[in-house]
Amino acid sequence: MELSPDTIRKALQGVKYPGFTRDIVSFGLVKDVKIDGGKVNVSLVLPKPDDKLKSDLDNSVRTAILETPGVSDVDIQISARQPKAPAGQGPAKAEKSAKLPDIKYYIAVASGKGGVGKSTVAVNIAVAMAKMRDKVALMDADIWGPSIPTMLGIKDRPKATEDNKIVPLNKFGLKLMSIGFLVNEEETVIWRGPMVHGAIKQFIEDVIWDDTDHLVIDLPPGTGDAQLSLVQTVPLSGGLIVTTPQDVALIDVKRGVQMFRKLNVPILGIVENMSYLEQTGDGDVIDIFGRGGGRRMAEQFGVPFLGEIPIDPQIRIGGDGGVPIVESHPESTAAIAFTKMAVHILDTVEKT
Ligand SMILES: Nc1ncnc2c1ncn2[C@@H]1O[C@H](COP(=O)(O)OP(=O)(O)OP(=O)(O)O)[C@@H](O)[C@H]1O
Ligand SMILES: [Mg+2]
Repeated sequence: MELSPDTIRKALQGVKYPGFTRDIVSFGLVKDVKIDGGKVNVSLVLPKPDDKLKSDLDNSVRTAILETPGVSDVDIQISARQPKAPAGQGPAKAEKSAKLPDIKYYIAVASGKGGVGKSTVAVNIAVAMAKMRDKVALMDADIWGPSIPTMLGIKDRPKATEDNKIVPLNKFGLKLMSIGFLVNEEETVIWRGPMVHGAIKQFIEDVIWDDTDHLVIDLPPGTGDAQLSLVQTVPLSGGLIVTTPQDVALIDVKRGVQMFRKLNVPILGIVENMSYLEQTGDGDVIDIFGRGGGRRMAEQFGVPFLGEIPIDPQIRIGGDGGVPIVESHPESTAAIAFTKMAVHILDTVEKT
């Protein structure tokens, strides 16, 4: 078989982007392939400057090409896209690239700390939004703990089209995609901001989000570099901060507020989860974690308070069982609270 740029691209489809199950060609890293007799010249562009990534890819690309029949020599150039202006030096909107899909509203759900119910809030709000709007999608961008497929009872994997685009799944009237479908769990532990940035951007660009107006994004917990670069990746219409009422969680709310403000992302509001426990029977309420902290924080920072979600075993059961409470028990206090939050968010972003 004659050596051609296509043969080389095919060979490079066997080279995985470190940390991913996807290959470097479908990730768009291979910029150019030239053939001159048996000599192959390849240029790659990395999402960010990264020496380790550069040398890993240089090795694996070289090996893959040299193993291709007919190749006598190989020359590889690896360049990197230059990092964007540091956080705070420009509005988030300026980041929008021509390749991003045509989504009207990007809504991020963040939390200062893990385990506060961020994914539960993201899922229930998205499902509630999908009852009111036709074109709602949910993206699980929590590279370290993707949980949304479980919360929505999804066992299928997304399929790719011939041109390597990913088709999102559907559930409860929502389009859904999770980065957990694509990444290799062991390796994401060591990811830092720049890698997350490149990966999420590529992820958003490669999924067929056709006909999506509202995209809810479940961010990884915390407010470090990874979250910051993720928030910079898309032109967010607004960010939501989820907390529990205890002081230890509230301290981190400040960081969430600062993160969004630094990037000029409007804060849609603070949600207090696991606020209190409703007793069955007499309707009495028990404050387990000290209700009211979320509201105080919202007042202190001058951002909207979107409401309290009680501790309700049905929320956990629904999360584990794949049917969110707004779907399984729409009359419950929690489901009504989630629905009100969804209404507030839709009203706010659609006005912008
Ligand atoms: N209001 C609630 N009442 C009862 N259980 C809840 C409530 N909110 C969340 N949970 C349960 O608490 C657990 C943690 O919630 P969830 O996974 O949504 O948190 P998270 O902030 O996304 O966590 P992580 O930081 O791991 O991503 C889940 O089992 C969930 O079902
Ligand atoms: Mg989560």
